[in-house]
Amino acid sequence: MSDRRGAISARLLWVLGGLVLVAGAAAAVLERRGEFSPAVRGERLASEAGCFACHGTGEENHRGNFRQLASGAWRPKAIPTLWENGLDRAEVLKDWIANGAPAAEAEAHRRLFIQMPAYSGFYDARQIDDLAAWILAEQLGRTLLATASAGREKPAATPQPGTLEFRRAADRLAREHGCFSCHGEQGQGGVRNPAAFKGYIPGFFGRDFLALTAGGDRDEILHWIDTGRGRHIESGWLGRLAKHFGDSQAIGMPGYRERLTDAEKQMLVDYLLLLNADGPLDAAAFEKRLRDLSADDASADS
Ligand code: HEC
Ligand code: HEC
Repeated sequence: MSDRRGAISARLLWVLGGLVLVAGAAAAVLERRGEFSPAVRGERLASEAGCFACHGTGEENHRGNFRQLASGAWRPKAIPTLWENGLDRAEVLKDWIANGAPAAEAEAHRRLFIQMPAYSGFYDARQIDDLAAWILAEQLGRTLLATASAGREKPAATPQPGTLEFRRAADRLAREHGCFSCHGEQGQGGVRNPAAFKGYIPGFFGRDFLALTAGGDRDEILHWIDTGRGRHIESGWLGRLAKHFGDSQAIGMPGYRERLTDAEKQMLVDYLLLLNADGPLDAAAFEKRLRDLSADDASADS
């Protein structure tokens, strides 16, 4: 009798143990689920969709094409990369991607031997927006890179957080120090990182950022900037796990303690909180960001 009761409770223990394991595994999977911004989804979709087959990946990688003249003769005309014509409007980009060529250009486009496919039959509106967001994010990086290397004078006093002037100064600072190289343009994340907890470097825009900075705590963000490591996540009973991932991932974050002044660090803390409040940026938001940030060039140069 007691033997049987013993067998039953042993079985119960096994079942309970199994349930705990399943729940733990489910929690781990949920925790490791990626958080992807529109630009990052767009980048992945672009390589999946084969855009680079025709557009090449850069100016040194042009793909050939031909255009038919009125005389009927064919002339070589390389396919432009997605950036060289400076397309900076979300709606125009989406029109190209969805319909092959905007109605106004359809006539001229038909004279090309290889033509732009219409993707509206393959991808939904959100995916087409993602592609445009990615193109605009890249455009932003390409436009502002020149600004950073030009070594413009720093503003005498730190502008008020939230103003456009602040955004421009903080953007330049973050860009010059490589924050966007690893955390994605405008901190939109998704840079792949082998053996990282989620397989990528988190951005500044969403839940990942909040989870790693104790909910956007200023001291915690400062600690990341100073040391390249988190203090909060490496403490507590899960701290060893966080430390393990921090030590073993391919790309680690450099510590900026000696590389930035206190004022610069405070500026970055404010800026990261601002980018987190902005959230994920879609194509229209990137179009606006591009206009806001590159207008600086025009006013500074004139
Ligand atoms: C089969 C070849 C081909 C593929 C694949 C292709 N395109 Fe194109 N695309 C073209 C051609 C050709 C043009 C017109 C170029 C010209 O005017 O000389 C074009 C034009 C464009 C333009 C306007 C560029 C400009 O500067 O005027 C955009 C934007 C664009 N494509 C985006 C995409 C995206 C995004 C993808 C992938 C989802 C893609 N294309 C895939 C051939 C292609
Ligand atoms: C060489 C790549 C690299 C550079 C450059 C870099 N970081 Fe990081 N950053 C990382 C990695 C990797 C992590 C760790 C993520 C993890 O452990 O999960 C990280 C984490 C962070 C975090 C924790 C929260 C989050 O969303 O990731 C903050 C905040 C941060 N970095 C700020 C910055 C700032 C500000 C700069 C520029 C001054 C910068 N980083 C430059 C790679 C980089």
